Amino acid sequence: MATLRTDPEQSRRAPKLRSVVVGTGSSLPARVVTNAALAERVDTSDEWIVQRTGIRQRHIADESETTSVLGTQAARAALQDAGLTADDIDLVICATSTPDHTFPSTATQIQAGLGIHQGAAFDLQAVCAGFVFAVSTADKFLTTGAARRALVVGAETFSRIVDWEDRTTCVLFGDGAGAIVLEAQEAQEAAEGRGVLSTSLRSDGRHREKLYVDGGPGSTGTTGRLRMEGRDVFRFAVGQVTDVIVEAFEQAGTTAEDLDWFVPHQANRRIIEASADKLGIARDKIVLTVDRHGNTSAASIPLALDVARRDGRIQAGDLVMIEAIGGGFSWGAALIRW
Ligand code: ACO
Repeated sequence: MATLRTDPEQSRRAPKLRSVVVGTGSSLPARVVTNAALAERVDTSDEWIVQRTGIRQRHIADESETTSVLGTQAARAALQDAGLTADDIDLVICATSTPDHTFPSTATQIQAGLGIHQGAAFDLQAVCAGFVFAVSTADKFLTTGAARRALVVGAETFSRIVDWEDRTTCVLFGDGAGAIVLEAQEAQEAAEGRGVLSTSLRSDGRHREKLYVDGGPGSTGTTGRLRMEGRDVFRFAVGQVTDVIVEAFEQAGTTAEDLDWFVPHQANRRIIEASADKLGIARDKIVLTVDRHGNTSAASIPLALDVARRDGRIQAGDLVMIEAIGGGFSWGAALIRW
């Protein structure tokens, strides 16, 4: 049975590796909830939600559509897309803040659901930035030779932790899952070669009160509900998050002009467009799914990647920037040559 370990001698001799995306997949709950349907439940309107956020609808999970169920479906689709089977995967990382249970991890549920019996599986929690953190983590395993192929999943059911009486937050979120398969391949020339070119991660726990869940197993013993200072999050997202993007470009020796697709966390259309404008990224390079999916936290980027790849926008060789900020705050960016 394969285990994960790094042999320093082998690492020295091994060729330089890059983590290449070889498949994508996604899964959305069947039920679609429009803004008009929400307006029957809380004091809001389609006009207010669209104007402030760009969101028109979101998918909401039923009882049977748990985070691990959605995550497994997305991961299976990514495996099929890559033309691989369970035997080919030796690492599963699931980014989620809404696991089915406090433990075991959602990643091990996904691993079992797909019949993967080798390697390691674990969850990673960086809220909305979780998928970027998971890509960066998987990249470290793959480029050091500690794993060969990783399923990187973002899966969430935020509808379970939203306060459905609070109109300032409940209109923003949706459920879903997305996944990619990353494969360690021999590195090609500099930024022209395929794979993850650079990643930049940051966290600053002083901002806890701006965006948090007011419960947990170690404090209240309950799941808790999401609380947010929307205006502060908005300001921080637009004002600060660009530092990791600039760093990711610099590390790879590229600029915003070289970019083919900007695939940010889908929280709010205004945040996304303001960030792109600040960075000099043309608006027609933005992949936007927030109108259809709402904010699905760690799932939003892999969902958007899958949409843009399957509709033919993202092509092999394209330069793609993913970027997100979430509770903590934690934020990060990764530059990928597709
Ligand atoms: N429907 C109607 N009116 C509403 C609603 C609603 N759903 N929610 C709030 N309002 C009202 C407020 O009560 C307020 O009324 P008042 O002026 O009478 O007091 C008014 O609308 C304006 O409220 P603001 O909070 O100032 O509205 P703002 O323009 O800041 O938009 C929003 C709010 C959309 C939450 C915005 O601040 C935002 O997008 N922030 C970022 C938060 C975010 O995206 N969080 C996701 C998680 S973190 C992440 O993923 C990055």
